[in-house]
Amino acid sequence: MPQRVSGRCHTVVVETCPDTPGKMEHMSSHDLRDRRLDYDANSLIDNPSADPFEFFDHWLSDATQAQDEGQRFEATSMTVSTVTQLSDGSWQPQGRVVLLKEWDEEGFVFYTNLDSDKGRAIETNPRVALSFNWSELERQVRIDGVAEQVERTQVEDYFSVRPRKSQTAAWASHQSRPIGSRKELEEAFEAAEERFPSDEPVPTPPFWGGFRVVPERIEFWQGRRSRLHDRIVFTRTEDGWSTSRLCP
Ligand SMILES: Cc1cc2nc3c(=O)[nH]c(=O)nc-3n(C[C@H](O)[C@H](O)[C@H](O)COP(=O)(O)O)c2cc1C
Repeated sequence: MPQRVSGRCHTVVVETCPDTPGKMEHMSSHDLRDRRLDYDANSLIDNPSADPFEFFDHWLSDATQAQDEGQRFEATSMTVSTVTQLSDGSWQPQGRVVLLKEWDEEGFVFYTNLDSDKGRAIETNPRVALSFNWSELERQVRIDGVAEQVERTQVEDYFSVRPRKSQTAAWASHQSRPIGSRKELEEAFEAAEERFPSDEPVPTPPFWGGFRVVPERIEFWQGRRSRLHDRIVFTRTEDGWSTSRLCP
C-alpha cells in the first residue's frame, strides 16, 4: 500500500508494495520507480533577477538559513565535476562534493589538495561544472565555468583560519593516492602533529590550494508541481549576462 508522509511543505508518496501483482516480476535490481515527490515548497520564478549573482545570493541565503534553523544539510556543499583524459584517450567525467568557501562576481572558490585527482584534472582541463542540490528547498543551481588557481596569499589566509587538526590532516593526507591502512593514515597524522610545535602556526602545505570557478553559465532550477519545473539560465555575453527560460 502507498504510504503518505506529510512534510513541511510537500507530500511524499512512497509505494512500498506494488498494487499490481507481478508488476516487478522481471526486475532483479532494486525498484525505485514509485518513489516520487511533488515539488511545491517554493514560489514562482516569474520575475527572475537580471543579475545571476543577486539570484545566487538570495538562494544561498535561503539555504544557509534553512540549515541554521535546524535542517540537517550542508548548504555550502556542491558537486564539482571535472573531465579527465584516461590513458586509453577516452574522456571521463568525475564528480565529488566540496565546500564553497568564498564567492563573489569573480567566481566560486573551493580549497583542496592540488595534487589530488581533481587538482590534476583541472590542471589539464580547467573546464568544470559545479552543482548545488538544496533538496529541502527543491532547488538546484548549476554553474559551468573555467577554474583558475586562487592566489597564494588568499590560500594562506584561509588555511590559517582552519581548525588546527584540519591543518595537520592536510599535511598527512596525500589526497586521492592509495594508502595501506587506516593505521598508516593515523600514523601520518601523528607524525605531522609532532612535526609542527603546538605553539607555532601550521604552515600551508605547498601542495594545498584553492580554485576559483569563473562562471560562464549559471542555471537556477526550482521544483514545481507536476514536473513543470522552472529553469532560468544566465549565459555570459560580452557586455553582461543574457537570460532565458528552459523547458524542464
Ligand atoms: C560534505 C563534503 C564536503 C567535502 N569538502 C571537501 C573540500 O572542501 N575539499 C576537498 O578537497 N574535498 C572535500 N570533500 C571530499 C571530496 O568529496 C573528495 O572525496 C576528495 O576531495 C577527493 O576527490 P578527488 O580524488 O576526486 O580529487 C568533501 C566531501 C563531502 C562529502
